[in-house]
Amino acid sequence: MPEIVRVADAGELAVRASQLMRECIDQAIATRGVARVALSGGSTPGAAYRLLGQSALDAERCRWFFVDERCVPPDSERSNYRAAKRDLFDALPVAHVFRMQGEAGAQAGARHYAELLAREVPCFDLVVAGIGDDGHTASLFPGTGAVRDPALVVAVEPGGGLEPRISLGRSTLLAARRIVILVTGAAKQPALAQALTAGDEDAVPARIYLRAESATLIADEAALTPR
Ligand code: 6PG
Repeated sequence: MPEIVRVADAGELAVRASQLMRECIDQAIATRGVARVALSGGSTPGAAYRLLGQSALDAERCRWFFVDERCVPPDSERSNYRAAKRDLFDALPVAHVFRMQGEAGAQAGARHYAELLAREVPCFDLVVAGIGDDGHTASLFPGTGAVRDPALVVAVEPGGGLEPRISLGRSTLLAARRIVILVTGAAKQPALAQALTAGDEDAVPARIYLRAESATLIADEAALTPR
């Protein structure tokens, strides 16, 4: 069961998340000289990324990677890279960014990123994850079998009109030294409650974090309180 940090609302979540990210980054730099961080997309982490970008971190020693990417060009409004650039990278004096190539398609993009990880990432110091209303995490979508795929990086067809995705695989996510999961809002409450209850992982892929000792869930009252 992940450690649970309960916060009042999305504003407090952004503050706590940015502080925790900063601690992990500083610790990694102090211990290994470099911090390797995998970032999620979606709307939840943006405010935390903006606070982190203002926190005078040692950007030269940070290496930024992605948890997942939508198969769109990097300048698309749907691109996780574009969002992280806007919210974080553009605020830093230097940003060493290793993006997933969504524009290459899911299969080629996943192959490219697996090769890149094998070269650049012995282990992530920090993974920033989210949970979708349907229980997905990263781009491991329910009912697709992606959560069972042992590959470092997986190509996912989420269905439901969503574009194909590239996603870190479960083994890569769970091997991180620290996983920080950010969840806000009443719409996420049912999925979060399921994610915190053992059961079929393909039905609720966010259950992969249940046995992760290195995981911290930061969630607001609305996401944690059944209605
Ligand atoms: C993505 C994400 C995804 C996200 C959840 C939550 O590309 O969509 O990386 O896994 O974390 O869907 O998204 P929200 O923060 O927008 O609710």
